[in-house]
Amino acid sequence: MSILSCASVSKVFNDNGFEALRNISMEVEDGECVGIVGESGSGKSTLGSILGGLEKPTEGTVFYRGKDISKLKGTERKAFRRRVQYIFQDPKGAMNPFFTLARVLKEPLAINFPDLSDEEMMERAADILEKVGLPHSILNLHPYEISGGEAQRVVIARALLMNPDVIIADECVSALDLSIQAEVMNLLRHIREESNVSFLFISHDLDLVRYFCDRVCVMLHGRIVEFLQCDRMVEDAKSEYTRMLLRDAYGE
Ligand SMILES: Nc1ncnc2c1ncn2[C@@H]1O[C@H](COP(=O)(O)OP(=O)(O)O)[C@@H](O)[C@H]1O
Ligand SMILES: [Mg+2]
Repeated sequence: MSILSCASVSKVFNDNGFEALRNISMEVEDGECVGIVGESGSGKSTLGSILGGLEKPTEGTVFYRGKDISKLKGTERKAFRRRVQYIFQDPKGAMNPFFTLARVLKEPLAINFPDLSDEEMMERAADILEKVGLPHSILNLHPYEISGGEAQRVVIARALLMNPDVIIADECVSALDLSIQAEVMNLLRHIREESNVSFLFISHDLDLVRYFCDRVCVMLHGRIVEFLQCDRMVEDAKSEYTRMLLRDAYGE
């Protein structure tokens, strides 16, 4: 069964009447990593927000483990919120600037696992920092006292603390320097190898998507152009648009 899927999703923004998505159906299987690639404004982030339940589709349905997310209530809704995690482009914007990083990591634990003692929460926070390659000493710092790459590792750590089924990563390394980008991508690869977490990996960078994902959904003007197996993209690409993306990324 797929972890996260949608059927015939369309999105029209009320304020400007703009149709950002038209008739999108797709699925992310258990443990799979699906990339969404396409030029700026093609609807990637809108699709990610709808799949993650942050925005409502104008038409169509989103399913989490086969259930319509608009009908989830109580503990099921909470579980969906906890098990579908987000990583955005700007890690510092995703943290309260007045909190120490210890509190950044502990707060969602306290909300989602209220039975944990303070000591247990600190233990989990310290363990997860090791996983993402950060020293415990940063727990006393504030978000503005660490680098962008470190901040993105903290955001990844915070997502992992929720034991997610799916991580929706929207341009999550786009703001980082190339060398740091590579380090964070290696960390994400490592997480994939160690756990069964699925990813929806949104990026305008075809090369990154091919490096990280199993399948890729190519989008243009709010529609799916085609779905391709990443390791067969060059052989299988049918649309002129995908061929153009490949040419842009790798030359002829
Ligand atoms: N809240 C909104 N209100 C109106 N239009 C929006 C809103 N969010 C996105 N759009 C428009 O929808 C289109 C797709 O945006 P987006 O999903 O952010 O694309 P991408 O992530 O591929 O760059 C763009 O034309 C954008 O201007
Ligand atoms: Mg976007």
